[in-house]
Amino acid sequence: MPGRNALMCTSGNGRFPGCSYNCVVPFAIRNFKKKDFETLWKIDQACFDSQLAYTREELAFYMRRPGSFSLVAESTLGDPASPDVQNKAGAPAKITGFIVAETIRSAGHIITLDVVAEARRTGVGSALMRAAETRLLEAKAITVSLETPVNNLTAIRFYKQDGYFVEETVPKYYSDQLDALLMVKDLKLVKDLKLGAE
Ligand SMILES: CC(C)(COP(=O)(O)OP(=O)(O)OC[C@H]1O[C@@H](n2cnc3c(N)ncnc32)[C@H](O)[C@@H]1OP(=O)(O)O)[C@@H](O)C(=O)NCCC(=O)NCCS
Repeated sequence: MPGRNALMCTSGNGRFPGCSYNCVVPFAIRNFKKKDFETLWKIDQACFDSQLAYTREELAFYMRRPGSFSLVAESTLGDPASPDVQNKAGAPAKITGFIVAETIRSAGHIITLDVVAEARRTGVGSALMRAAETRLLEAKAITVSLETPVNNLTAIRFYKQDGYFVEETVPKYYSDQLDALLMVKDLKLVKDLKLGAE
């Protein structure tokens, strides 16, 4: 059985709740399992340059922090390159992205969001954000914030279309060199939308 936050996006057959995408690749979102760690770390290495990518220790630290949770997007088509991970039908499944988030009192925080290059623009990042926001709402978060490099225009566009606004620029946030944008979203709006849809 999928976890309580599992979302299915099965293009052609249906959509996961709230999905506005005509997704090409069917995928499911589930809770992180320990055996995923090495794959997630490799995805992070591929998503970010050396200045931004986490070491194994850093990623493990953030994933284990109190209040932190990690969700994984997995293609339900299977991936012969990762035979150790099986999907529900028993076929190998491929991890296409993940998100690490946390709640600190009533504030949610996205620690990282990573989608493999070949799965981008298919709704995976949006689905991971939706699933994480649902979890944050359950944990009574009122707002959610994140940091993104000022030069990551793709991420800035992605977050803006998802309802985030720039609160401030944080000078030299990354490695004491690169500035970050602190972006924030009001989760009350998400909650109201969910209630409206029920
Ligand atoms: C940013 C990222 C997570 C987006 O994930 P994704 O799965 O491609 O996003 P989605 O498919 O859900 O895109 C949703 C919308 O965001 C916007 N968007 C996403 N990527 C975009 C791009 N390259 N250019 C312009 N708009 C983009 C679009 O409006 C898109 O909707 P559309 O495809 O219908 O036009 C992904 O590009 C990624 O992992 N990048 C590398 C790691 C990274 O930068 N993470 C964020 C760190 S702060």
